[in-house]
Amino acid sequence: MILITGAMGNVGREVVNLLLAEGEKAVAVTRDPATAALPDGAAVVGGDPSHPTTLTSALRRVEAVLVSPRAVGAATAELLALAAEHGAQRVVALSAVTVEHPAGYRRFAEEFKAVEDAVTASGLPWTILRCTDFASNTRAWAPQIRSTGIVRGAYGDAATSTIHERDIAAVAVRALVDADHAGHSYLLTGPQSLTQRDKVRLIGQALGTPLSFEELPPDQVRRAMLAQGLPEDIPDRLLGSLADYATQPGPSSDTVAQILDRPALTFADWATEHTADFGEPAGKHSS
Ligand SMILES: NC(=O)c1ccc[n+]([C@@H]2O[C@H](COP(=O)([O-])OP(=O)(O)OC[C@H]3O[C@@H](n4cnc5c(N)ncnc54)[C@H](OP(=O)(O)O)[C@@H]3O)[C@@H](O)[C@H]2O)c1
Repeated sequence: MILITGAMGNVGREVVNLLLAEGEKAVAVTRDPATAALPDGAAVVGGDPSHPTTLTSALRRVEAVLVSPRAVGAATAELLALAAEHGAQRVVALSAVTVEHPAGYRRFAEEFKAVEDAVTASGLPWTILRCTDFASNTRAWAPQIRSTGIVRGAYGDAATSTIHERDIAAVAVRALVDADHAGHSYLLTGPQSLTQRDKVRLIGQALGTPLSFEELPPDQVRRAMLAQGLPEDIPDRLLGSLADYATQPGPSSDTVAQILDRPALTFADWATEHTADFGEPAGKHSS
Protein backbone atom coordinates (compact mmCIF):
# COMPACT_ATOMS: atom_id res chain seq x y z
CA MET A 1 0.00 0.00 0.00
CA ILE A 2 1.32 3.42 -0.97
CA LEU A 3 0.35 6.62 0.84
CA ILE A 4 0.03 9.71 -1.36
CA THR A 5 0.10 13.15 0.26
CA GLY A 6 -1.08 16.02 -1.94
CA ALA A 7 -3.32 13.45 -3.63
CA MET A 8 -5.75 16.08 -4.92
CA GLY A 9 -2.95 18.07 -6.56
CA ASN A 10 -1.77 18.04 -10.17
CA VAL A 11 0.86 15.37 -9.55
CA GLY A 12 -0.73 13.42 -6.68
CA ARG A 13 -3.92 12.76 -8.64
CA GLU A 14 -1.90 11.34 -11.56
CA VAL A 15 0.17 9.21 -9.16
CA VAL A 16 -3.01 7.68 -7.73
CA ASN A 17 -4.34 6.94 -11.25
CA LEU A 18 -1.08 5.36 -12.40
CA LEU A 19 -0.69 3.24 -9.24
CA LEU A 20 -4.22 1.91 -9.63
CA ALA A 21 -3.56 1.17 -13.33
CA GLU A 22 -0.56 -0.92 -12.23
CA GLY A 23 -2.69 -2.84 -9.75
CA GLU A 24 -1.07 -1.20 -6.70
CA LYS A 25 -3.06 -0.07 -3.66
CA ALA A 26 -3.10 3.71 -3.29
CA VAL A 27 -4.13 5.56 -0.13
CA ALA A 28 -5.00 9.15 -1.13
CA VAL A 29 -4.72 11.70 1.68
CA THR A 30 -6.87 14.82 1.72
CA ARG A 31 -8.06 17.23 4.39
CA ASP A 32 -11.50 17.12 2.79
CA PRO A 33 -12.50 13.56 1.88
CA ALA A 34 -16.15 14.57 1.34
CA THR A 35 -15.29 16.46 -1.84
CA ALA A 36 -12.45 14.22 -3.06
CA ALA A 37 -13.12 13.06 -6.60
CA LEU A 38 -10.80 10.15 -7.33
CA PRO A 39 -11.29 6.96 -9.35
CA ASP A 40 -12.98 3.90 -7.82
CA GLY A 41 -10.31 1.80 -6.22
CA ALA A 42 -8.47 4.64 -4.52
CA ALA A 43 -8.78 4.52 -0.74
CA VAL A 44 -9.41 8.10 0.33
CA VAL A 45 -8.24 8.96 3.84
CA GLY A 46 -9.12 12.14 5.70
CA GLY A 47 -6.16 13.75 7.43
CA ASP A 48 -3.76 16.66 7.35
CA PRO A 49 -0.19 15.70 6.39
CA SER A 50 1.07 18.86 8.08
CA HIS A 51 -0.26 17.30 11.33
CA PRO A 52 1.06 13.74 10.88
CA THR A 53 -0.68 12.19 13.90
CA THR A 54 -3.95 12.65 11.96
CA LEU A 55 -2.57 9.93 9.66
CA THR A 56 -1.43 7.40 12.28
CA SER A 57 -3.98 4.73 11.40
CA ALA A 58 -3.59 5.30 7.64
CA LEU A 59 0.14 4.59 7.97
CA ARG A 60 -0.42 0.99 9.10
CA ARG A 61 0.72 -1.44 6.39
CA VAL A 62 2.04 1.42 4.23
CA GLU A 63 5.01 0.35 2.16
CA ALA A 64 5.97 3.71 0.62
CA VAL A 65 5.08 7.40 1.04
CA LEU A 66 4.94 10.25 -1.47
CA VAL A 67 5.81 13.58 0.17
CA SER A 68 4.23 16.61 -1.47
CA PRO A 69 6.05 19.62 0.05
CA ARG A 70 3.13 22.05 0.13
CA ALA A 71 1.00 19.46 1.93
CA VAL A 72 3.61 18.19 4.43
CA GLY A 73 6.11 21.06 4.73
CA ALA A 74 7.80 21.43 8.09
CA ALA A 75 6.14 18.23 9.34
CA THR A 76 8.12 16.02 6.93
CA ALA A 77 10.49 14.65 9.60
CA GLU A 78 7.58 13.82 11.94
CA LEU A 79 5.53 12.16 9.17
CA LEU A 80 8.46 10.01 8.05
CA ALA A 81 9.34 9.02 11.62
CA LEU A 82 5.76 7.78 12.05
CA ALA A 83 5.86 6.02 8.68
CA ALA A 84 9.14 4.29 9.58
CA GLU A 85 7.67 3.22 12.94
CA HIS A 86 4.81 1.57 11.04
CA GLY A 87 7.17 -0.30 8.71
CA ALA A 88 7.37 1.95 5.63
CA GLN A 89 10.23 0.97 3.35
CA ARG A 90 10.59 3.94 0.98
CA VAL A 91 9.92 7.65 0.59
CA VAL A 92 9.68 9.67 -2.62
CA ALA A 93 9.60 13.46 -2.34
CA LEU A 94 8.65 16.12 -4.86
CA SER A 95 11.00 19.09 -4.93
CA ALA A 96 12.13 21.80 -7.34
CA VAL A 97 14.99 22.33 -9.82
CA THR A 98 15.83 25.58 -8.04
CA VAL A 99 17.47 23.56 -5.22
CA GLU A 100 20.13 22.53 -7.75
CA HIS A 101 19.91 25.38 -10.31
CA PRO A 102 19.22 28.58 -8.38
CA ALA A 103 16.65 30.96 -9.88
CA GLY A 104 14.34 33.46 -8.27
CA TYR A 105 14.23 34.24 -4.57
CA ARG A 106 16.42 31.88 -2.57
CA ARG A 107 13.88 31.51 0.24
CA PHE A 108 11.55 29.43 -1.97
CA ALA A 109 14.33 27.00 -2.92
CA GLU A 110 15.26 26.81 0.77
CA GLU A 111 11.74 25.63 1.65
CA PHE A 112 12.16 22.72 -0.78
CA LYS A 113 15.69 22.03 0.51
CA ALA A 114 14.38 21.82 4.09
CA VAL A 115 11.90 19.13 3.00
CA GLU A 116 14.68 17.30 1.11
CA ASP A 117 16.91 17.43 4.21
CA ALA A 118 14.15 15.92 6.36
CA VAL A 119 13.68 13.17 3.76
CA THR A 120 17.36 12.26 3.50
CA ALA A 121 17.72 12.32 7.31
CA SER A 122 14.68 10.07 7.82
CA GLY A 123 16.63 6.81 7.65
CA LEU A 124 14.22 5.53 4.97
CA PRO A 125 15.50 4.75 1.48
CA TRP A 126 14.62 7.94 -0.43
CA THR A 127 14.23 9.33 -3.95
CA ILE A 128 13.95 13.06 -4.61
CA LEU A 129 12.29 14.46 -7.74
CA ARG A 130 13.52 18.00 -8.47
CA CYS A 131 10.90 19.24 -10.90
CA THR A 132 10.85 22.21 -13.23
CA ASP A 133 7.67 24.31 -13.63
CA PHE A 134 4.52 22.26 -14.19
CA ALA A 135 2.53 22.67 -17.42
CA SER A 136 -0.55 23.11 -15.23
CA ASN A 137 0.83 26.48 -14.02
CA THR A 138 -0.33 27.90 -17.38
CA ARG A 139 -3.94 27.35 -16.27
CA ALA A 140 -3.51 30.74 -14.57
CA TRP A 141 -3.82 32.21 -18.09
CA ALA A 142 -7.23 30.62 -18.69
CA PRO A 143 -9.41 33.63 -17.69
CA GLN A 144 -7.42 35.97 -20.00
CA ILE A 145 -7.47 33.48 -22.86
CA ARG A 146 -11.23 32.99 -22.52
CA SER A 147 -12.03 36.67 -22.27
CA THR A 148 -9.57 38.30 -24.68
CA GLY A 149 -7.35 35.73 -26.41
CA ILE A 150 -4.37 37.75 -25.14
CA VAL A 151 -2.13 36.76 -22.23
CA ARG A 152 -0.71 39.86 -20.55
CA GLY A 153 2.33 39.16 -18.41
CA ALA A 154 5.96 39.91 -17.68
CA TYR A 155 9.10 38.29 -19.09
CA GLY A 156 7.57 36.78 -22.26
CA ASP A 157 11.03 35.57 -23.29
CA ALA A 158 11.60 33.63 -20.06
CA ALA A 159 12.28 30.03 -21.14
CA THR A 160 11.83 26.80 -19.21
CA SER A 161 11.53 23.12 -20.10
CA THR A 162 8.04 22.89 -18.63
CA ILE A 163 7.03 19.37 -17.57
CA HIS A 164 3.79 17.44 -18.00
CA GLU A 165 2.62 16.43 -14.51
CA ARG A 166 1.88 12.87 -15.69
CA ASP A 167 5.60 12.39 -16.43
CA ILE A 168 6.48 13.44 -12.87
CA ALA A 169 3.83 11.04 -11.61
CA ALA A 170 5.11 8.21 -13.79
CA VAL A 171 8.64 8.66 -12.44
CA ALA A 172 7.27 8.92 -8.89
CA VAL A 173 5.43 5.61 -9.34
CA ARG A 174 8.61 3.86 -10.54
CA ALA A 175 10.47 5.13 -7.45
CA LEU A 176 7.57 4.27 -5.10
CA VAL A 177 7.42 0.64 -6.21
CA ASP A 178 11.04 -0.07 -7.15
CA ALA A 179 13.89 0.13 -4.62
CA ASP A 180 16.44 0.59 -7.44
CA HIS A 181 15.75 4.34 -7.43
CA ALA A 182 16.74 4.78 -3.78
CA GLY A 183 19.47 7.31 -3.10
CA HIS A 184 18.88 9.32 -6.29
CA SER A 185 17.93 12.98 -6.71
CA TYR A 186 16.49 13.25 -10.20
CA LEU A 187 16.25 16.50 -12.17
CA LEU A 188 12.92 16.24 -14.02
CA THR A 189 12.08 18.57 -16.91
CA GLY A 190 10.09 18.48 -20.12
CA PRO A 191 11.81 17.78 -23.45
CA GLN A 192 11.91 21.33 -24.92
CA SER A 193 12.89 24.76 -23.68
CA LEU A 194 9.94 27.06 -24.41
CA THR A 195 9.42 30.75 -23.76
CA GLN A 196 6.17 32.00 -22.27
CA ARG A 197 5.27 33.29 -25.76
CA ASP A 198 5.84 29.78 -27.18
CA LYS A 199 3.55 28.27 -24.56
CA VAL A 200 0.77 30.75 -25.33
CA ARG A 201 1.16 29.99 -29.04
CA LEU A 202 0.98 26.22 -28.42
CA ILE A 203 -2.17 26.59 -26.32
CA GLY A 204 -3.63 28.59 -29.24
CA GLN A 205 -2.66 25.82 -31.67
CA ALA A 206 -4.38 23.25 -29.47
CA LEU A 207 -7.50 25.43 -29.35
CA GLY A 208 -7.35 26.12 -33.09
CA THR A 209 -7.19 29.90 -32.54
CA PRO A 210 -4.16 32.20 -32.59
CA LEU A 211 -3.38 33.62 -29.14
CA SER A 212 -0.83 36.29 -28.33
CA PHE A 213 1.36 37.35 -25.41
CA GLU A 214 1.51 41.02 -24.49
CA GLU A 215 4.47 42.18 -22.42
CA LEU A 216 3.71 44.24 -19.30
CA PRO A 217 6.15 45.75 -16.79
CA PRO A 218 6.75 43.34 -13.87
CA ASP A 219 5.46 45.87 -11.31
CA GLN A 220 2.15 46.15 -13.11
CA VAL A 221 1.82 42.35 -13.15
CA ARG A 222 2.69 42.19 -9.43
CA ARG A 223 -0.01 44.76 -8.58
CA ALA A 224 -2.56 42.95 -10.75
CA MET A 225 -1.83 39.62 -9.00
CA LEU A 226 -2.31 41.16 -5.56
CA ALA A 227 -5.48 42.98 -6.70
CA GLN A 228 -6.81 39.58 -7.88
CA GLY A 229 -6.48 38.41 -4.28
CA LEU A 230 -3.59 36.00 -4.88
CA PRO A 231 -1.52 35.18 -1.77
CA GLU A 232 1.27 37.70 -1.09
CA ASP A 233 4.09 35.27 -1.84
CA ILE A 234 2.83 34.47 -5.35
CA PRO A 235 4.25 37.50 -7.23
CA ASP A 236 7.73 36.87 -5.76
CA ARG A 237 7.46 33.14 -6.46
CA LEU A 238 6.51 33.62 -10.10
CA LEU A 239 8.21 36.84 -11.15
CA GLY A 240 11.47 36.15 -9.31
CA SER A 241 12.28 33.01 -11.29
CA LEU A 242 10.87 34.37 -14.59
CA ALA A 243 13.23 37.35 -14.33
CA ASP A 244 16.18 34.93 -14.14
CA TYR A 245 14.84 32.61 -16.87
CA ALA A 246 14.52 35.62 -19.21
CA THR A 247 18.29 35.99 -19.16
CA GLN A 248 19.27 32.32 -18.71
CA PRO A 249 16.83 29.54 -19.71
CA GLY A 250 15.93 27.03 -17.01
CA PRO A 251 17.66 23.63 -16.92
CA SER A 252 16.81 20.68 -19.20
CA SER A 253 17.41 16.99 -18.66
CA ASP A 254 16.50 13.72 -20.37
CA THR A 255 15.94 11.88 -17.08
CA VAL A 256 12.22 11.36 -17.71
CA ALA A 257 12.90 9.54 -21.00
CA GLN A 258 15.71 7.51 -19.44
CA ILE A 259 13.64 6.32 -16.49
CA LEU A 260 10.40 5.75 -18.38
CA ASP A 261 12.07 4.35 -21.52
CA ARG A 262 9.85 6.49 -23.75
CA PRO A 263 10.01 10.13 -24.87
CA ALA A 264 8.90 12.72 -22.32
CA LEU A 265 5.48 14.25 -23.02
CA THR A 266 5.60 17.69 -24.66
CA PHE A 267 3.89 20.92 -23.68
CA ALA A 268 1.88 20.59 -26.93
CA ASP A 269 0.66 17.17 -25.67
CA TRP A 270 -0.42 18.79 -22.42
CA ALA A 271 -2.18 21.68 -24.19
CA THR A 272 -4.06 19.26 -26.47
CA GLU A 273 -5.27 17.28 -23.45
CA HIS A 274 -6.36 20.43 -21.59
CA THR A 275 -8.25 22.53 -24.17
CA ALA A 276 -11.35 22.35 -21.95
CA ASP A 277 -9.45 24.23 -19.21
CA PHE A 278 -9.05 27.22 -21.51
CA GLY A 279 -12.62 27.17 -22.84
CA GLU A 280 -13.60 28.82 -26.04
CA PRO A 281 -11.33 31.80 -26.68
CA ALA A 282 -12.63 35.24 -27.61
CA GLY A 283 -13.48 35.56 -31.29
CA LYS A 284 -14.01 31.83 -31.84
CA HIS A 285 -17.65 30.85 -32.13
CA SER A 286 -19.06 27.52 -33.17
CA SER A 287 -21.47 27.84 -36.09
N1 LIG B 1 3.85 24.08 -9.77
C1 LIG B 1 5.14 23.96 -10.01
O1 LIG B 1 5.65 24.47 -11.02
C2 LIG B 1 6.02 23.17 -9.07
C3 LIG B 1 7.37 22.96 -9.39
C4 LIG B 1 8.16 22.21 -8.52
C5 LIG B 1 7.61 21.67 -7.37
N2 LIG B 1 6.29 21.90 -7.08
C6 LIG B 1 5.74 21.29 -5.86
O2 LIG B 1 5.09 20.10 -6.22
C7 LIG B 1 4.12 19.77 -5.20
C8 LIG B 1 2.86 19.24 -5.83
O3 LIG B 1 2.21 20.27 -6.56
P1 LIG B 1 0.72 20.05 -7.09
O4 LIG B 1 0.45 21.17 -8.02
O5 LIG B 1 0.58 18.64 -7.56
O6 LIG B 1 -0.18 20.11 -5.80
P2 LIG B 1 -0.50 21.33 -4.80
O7 LIG B 1 -1.24 22.37 -5.52
O8 LIG B 1 0.72 21.70 -4.07
O9 LIG B 1 -1.51 20.72 -3.79
C9 LIG B 1 -1.59 19.37 -3.43
C10 LIG B 1 -2.51 19.22 -2.25
O10 LIG B 1 -1.80 19.51 -1.07
C11 LIG B 1 -2.72 19.84 -0.04
N3 LIG B 1 -2.26 21.06 0.63
C12 LIG B 1 -1.97 22.27 0.07
N4 LIG B 1 -1.61 23.15 1.02
C13 LIG B 1 -1.68 22.49 2.20
C14 LIG B 1 -1.41 22.85 3.55
N5 LIG B 1 -1.02 24.10 3.88
N6 LIG B 1 -1.56 21.92 4.51
C15 LIG B 1 -1.93 20.67 4.21
N7 LIG B 1 -2.23 20.25 2.95
C16 LIG B 1 -2.09 21.16 1.97
C17 LIG B 1 -4.06 20.07 -0.74
O11 LIG B 1 -4.81 18.89 -0.51
P3 LIG B 1 -6.21 18.83 0.28
O12 LIG B 1 -6.83 20.19 0.20
O13 LIG B 1 -6.92 17.79 -0.52
O14 LIG B 1 -5.88 18.42 1.65
C18 LIG B 1 -3.69 20.15 -2.21
O15 LIG B 1 -4.69 19.69 -3.07
C19 LIG B 1 3.93 21.05 -4.37
O16 LIG B 1 4.50 20.88 -3.11
C20 LIG B 1 4.67 22.12 -5.16
O17 LIG B 1 5.24 23.09 -4.30
C21 LIG B 1 5.50 22.61 -7.91
